[in-house]
Amino acid sequence: MAKHAEAGNNRSETSPLRIREHPIIEFPRRRRVKFLFDGKELEGLEGEMIASALMANNIKVFRHSKKLTRPRGFFCAIGRCASCNMVVDGVPNIRVCVTPLKEGMRIEPQKGRGVLQP
Ligand code: FES
Repeated sequence: MAKHAEAGNNRSETSPLRIREHPIIEFPRRRRVKFLFDGKELEGLEGEMIASALMANNIKVFRHSKKLTRPRGFFCAIGRCASCNMVVDGVPNIRVCVTPLKEGMRIEPQKGRGVLQP
């Protein structure tokens, strides 16, 4: 199993990394859904951004850079920098900081530019 998935604890709803209270943002109750990350089944909240679900599962490396293969997490968190590009349901270069989580999604770390998968 890849190093990324070892951190997942499948208890994302109770993760200390999840923000529960905020002075101006409300967090509606969401349904718990299962998804696959690097072949491991994890849980997240339906409609939250994929990056949030991964962070709640203590997964912080989303891809590796093309040239130096350095680990990358998310940076801007608003869909502008591409630091969070991952392979989602076989499609590379998905910015997971602005992509909502759905039941059964297959999410994988991306290496370099990414390649379309069958
Ligand atoms: S973190 Fe910048 S596009 Fe997702």
